[in-house]
Amino acid sequence: MAVKISVQHVSKIFGSKPLKILQDLTAHFDKSLVMKETQHVVGVHDATFEVNEGEIFVIIGLSGSGKSTLIRCLNLLHRPTGGEILIDGQNICDFSPKKLRELRRHQIAMVFQNFALLSHKSVLENVSYGLTIRGEVKAASQFKARQMLLMVGLDGYENEPISALSGGMKQRVGLARALANDPEILLMDEAFSALDPIVRREMQFELLKLQQQLRKTIVFITHDIQEAFKIGDRVAIMKDSKIVQIGSPEEILTKPADEYVERFITGVDRTQILTVRSIMVVPSCLIQMRSGPNMAIQEMKRNGVSSAFVIDHDLKLSGLVTLQDALKAIAEKLSLAEIINREVIQVEPSTTVSDLVPLAAQSAYPIAVTEEGRLLGIVTKVAILSTLG
Ligand SMILES: Nc1ncnc2c1ncn2[C@@H]1O[C@H](COP(=O)(O)OP(=O)(O)O)[C@@H](O)[C@H]1O
Ligand SMILES: [Mg+2]
Repeated sequence: MAVKISVQHVSKIFGSKPLKILQDLTAHFDKSLVMKETQHVVGVHDATFEVNEGEIFVIIGLSGSGKSTLIRCLNLLHRPTGGEILIDGQNICDFSPKKLRELRRHQIAMVFQNFALLSHKSVLENVSYGLTIRGEVKAASQFKARQMLLMVGLDGYENEPISALSGGMKQRVGLARALANDPEILLMDEAFSALDPIVRREMQFELLKLQQQLRKTIVFITHDIQEAFKIGDRVAIMKDSKIVQIGSPEEILTKPADEYVERFITGVDRTQILTVRSIMVVPSCLIQMRSGPNMAIQEMKRNGVSSAFVIDHDLKLSGLVTLQDALKAIAEKLSLAEIINREVIQVEPSTTVSDLVPLAAQSAYPIAVTEEGRLLGIVTKVAILSTLG
């Protein structure tokens, strides 16, 4: 996967002598003490991360933790006090004003929480505005703007004044405007935070839908952990100007870096995020297809189970055999192939626990986890129950 944005040891200090303060700062600085003693604010300290092409990278943290400061460094709305920001391998801190303008017009777009729309202009004008100022002819910009409005579900609203729109619709305009420039990178600073919960969920869904089509590199800021986990491929958690953990939602849920992160994730619906991959186990008892019913019975007895999955030579799942059926096979002189239950429930490792629960409820046996027919592991009901608790 190609790295699109590389952030290396970026710090941003606000005040009159930021460089001096940064030099004196230790890794365990106390932000309020620095403020009191030096009248400088540490906005971000030593942030390092990479965002891959086509990824949604979410930054989450409490208010004042440095999220906006950090995202504003990515297009140099804030110039970092220290560190480097590379886009496609180029250090943008070294860009000339002209190159920087090009970058902002063509490569990066930003969506803001307060929409930042031109309220006296129409929906269409708001979306085409950026295209016009970068020199495209009016007809072409308007054509493009209409396409964008169609994409975000606002066709028919072209001539409405911004003031006539609801919050959710305004943010759709904001999104259409950002996408109109066809940027490779989309920066979204609490873009959905001002919307009420139902509209907010609609917009989250809308963004994911658009992303499937567009594959932009997106940096998305929120203070809502549910939102972060819902839309983020990876999530960075900030605390007091520092990044304390970066990982996929599942990694963060299963291995929280510290108590702070643990507190942050309490209340999250784990079943929506945890996948079968993190709760499956290697089956203790596996039967080879070539074994006879006698051997199958011995195997099951040795492992203390009353049923087992049957695999063929290259680990392909063939079915399930029960102790009872194996005994019947001996009595009726049948082979394993003739008695196994081939209708076993199979899931992929990426299935979420919430999708697994109804399947498990239907099944009297553990669930088989397979990839292209190959058995990778099993999920027991006990394992499922323990994630619900
Ligand atoms: N322009 C600025 N001048 C001085 N301090 C600032 C400025 N912008 C942000 N800060 C401070 O930097 C810290 C991080 O702020 P911010 O990045 O806005 O946090 P968040 O977006 O996570 O709520 C806060 O303490 C804030 O007061
Ligand atoms: Mg902010």
